[in-house]
Amino acid sequence: MVEILPSILAADFARLGEQIAALETVGCHMLHFDVMDGHFVPNFTVGPPVLESLRKITRMTLDVHLMITDPDRYAPIFIEAGADQVLVHQETCPHLDRTLRMIQSEGARAGVVINPATPVSMLDEVLDIADYVLVMSVNPGFGGQRFIPNALDKVRRLTARKRDRGLQFPIEIDGGVTKENVANVVNAGVEWIVTGSSIFHTVNPAAAFEELLQLAREACAVRV
Ligand code: DX5
Ligand code: ZN
Repeated sequence: MVEILPSILAADFARLGEQIAALETVGCHMLHFDVMDGHFVPNFTVGPPVLESLRKITRMTLDVHLMITDPDRYAPIFIEAGADQVLVHQETCPHLDRTLRMIQSEGARAGVVINPATPVSMLDEVLDIADYVLVMSVNPGFGGQRFIPNALDKVRRLTARKRDRGLQFPIEIDGGVTKENVANVVNAGVEWIVTGSSIFHTVNPAAAFEELLQLAREACAVRV
């Protein structure tokens, strides 16, 4: 099932609760939560206390994207704070197999992310362990960047591997998705689409969410 996951990185943090409630009323049920540490990526965002507050006000699935150098240390803390699913970067995990299993044993779904410069083949040995895979379509660290088209080829390669190996994991994409390219993203095989600016940097985020979801579902209907 194709889903749009609003990234709160682009939200108005002073009105976060209100903006999330508005999205929930139009059927949004997955939210993307970006965590940055100023080391792995050149930016900072929010941490466990904010996640804990969001957990209290929403039943949405909270998808936590750890752009941090030490995910093994902090993943359990984010799970305790309310994460339903946690994404770690392949580039930060020398023991990726162990990290994914640790996240699962702590009670969350475990996702793995690859940066634009990381080939899909780096995931070959963990595709049957990861619950889902995120292909970055921008270099992580900032919202509002331009979509890197090569991400679509990577998604197609991943889709082919899924098919060849009889695996079912959802493919997620993050960065630079707009009304203009969302259909291409779905056609390549993406199921979970993260969007920040295209939702929150509009006059009406709930309406923008609905429009993106409709475009994505139409593309999916054609694909199937
Ligand atoms: C970038 C973050 C993204 C970001 C996407 O490092 O991981 O989740 O919020 O924002 P847009 O949709 O504006 O590219
Ligand atoms: Zn993200």
